[in-house]
Amino acid sequence: MERLADKIMRLKRERNAVILAHYYTTPDVQAVADFLGDSLALSVKARSTDAEVILFAGVHFMAETAKVLCPDKKVLIPCPEAGCSLAESCRAEDFAEFKKRYPGHTVVSYVNTSVEVKALTDICCTSSNALKVVESIPAEQPVIFAPDRNLGSYIKRLTGRDNMVVWDGACHVHEEFSLEKILELKREHPAAHIVSHPECRAYIVEAADFVGSTAAILEYCSREDVDEFIVVTESGILSEMRRRYPEKSFIPAPPIDSTCGCNDCRFMKMVTLENIAAALENMAPEIELDEQVRKAAERSILNMIEIK
Ligand code: 13P
Ligand code: SF4
Repeated sequence: MERLADKIMRLKRERNAVILAHYYTTPDVQAVADFLGDSLALSVKARSTDAEVILFAGVHFMAETAKVLCPDKKVLIPCPEAGCSLAESCRAEDFAEFKKRYPGHTVVSYVNTSVEVKALTDICCTSSNALKVVESIPAEQPVIFAPDRNLGSYIKRLTGRDNMVVWDGACHVHEEFSLEKILELKREHPAAHIVSHPECRAYIVEAADFVGSTAAILEYCSREDVDEFIVVTESGILSEMRRRYPEKSFIPAPPIDSTCGCNDCRFMKMVTLENIAAALENMAPEIELDEQVRKAAERSILNMIEIK
C-alpha cells in the first residue's frame, strides 16, 4: 500500500501542484508542504509560484487570497469547511453598513477576512506588516481597522492614532489565553521570555517580552541570550520552533479552559493528509470567485504587497 505522504508527493508531480501550508497546520501536513509560512509570506509566495495548481493547506480565507492573486491557477482547498472565527466575525453586509457610518475613512483590513470584505478594503495587512500599513497612511487621515479588535487596539497604542475606528472582531484562539497561567509559568521559568501574537488581549500583550506575527516570533527566538520561551500563540508554531532551534525550550501557554495545556486553532487542524491527497486526486474542491469581487479584493492585497 502506498503511504499517504508518498501518494501526495506523486500526485504533486503528476498535477504540477505546489503545496503552501501555514505554520498552524499539523506537523505531518507541514512535512508535505513545498513552502511553509505565515499569512504574509504565503500570499507573496502564491503570487510568485509557476506551478499550475496551488493546494492551500490552511483555512478558507488563505486559499481565497491565493486565488485572488492567481486567477489563472487552480487553487485547491482540501477542507473548505475550515473557516476562521476572526474572518467570520466580520460579514461583508455588516461591514458595508459600518463603512457607511465612517465616510472618508481609509479602510485597512487584516487578511483574515472574506474576499467580499477585502473588496470593501483599501489596503489589506497581516500581523507582520499592520504597523507599516497604518503608518503609510497620513496621520490626519482617519482609518477604519478591521476585523481584529486586539491587533487594532495594539496598532492604535503603538501609533497613538485617535482617528482609527476598530471593528469589534476577535480570534477564538488568541483571545482565550490565561494571564494567570502565563504568570505562573513565568514564576516556574524566570529566565524564559514571553512571546505573544498581537491578536491576544491587551493584558497578555502588555505582559509579553516580545509581540509579533508568527514570522516575527520565530525570528525573535533566534536570539542567543535566551534559551527558554513561553509561547502565547497557536500551538502549530511549536514544531517549527523546535525544528529551527532544537537546543532551546518552548513552553506552550495554556488557554483559560485547558485540558491539553496548549491552544489549537481547530480550523487549521481540519486540514489532514487524507483530505490533501483526496483534493489532489480529484482536483477538487477548488476556490471559485466572482471576477468583479476578485478584482476589487486584488487591489487591496496588491496595495499591501507594495508597502511591504
Ligand atoms: P500570521 O499573520 O501571524 O500568519 O497569523 C495568522 C493567523 O491566523 C493568526 O491567528
Ligand atoms: Fe482564524 Fe484564529 Fe485560526 Fe488564525 S488562529 S485562522 S485567526 S481562528
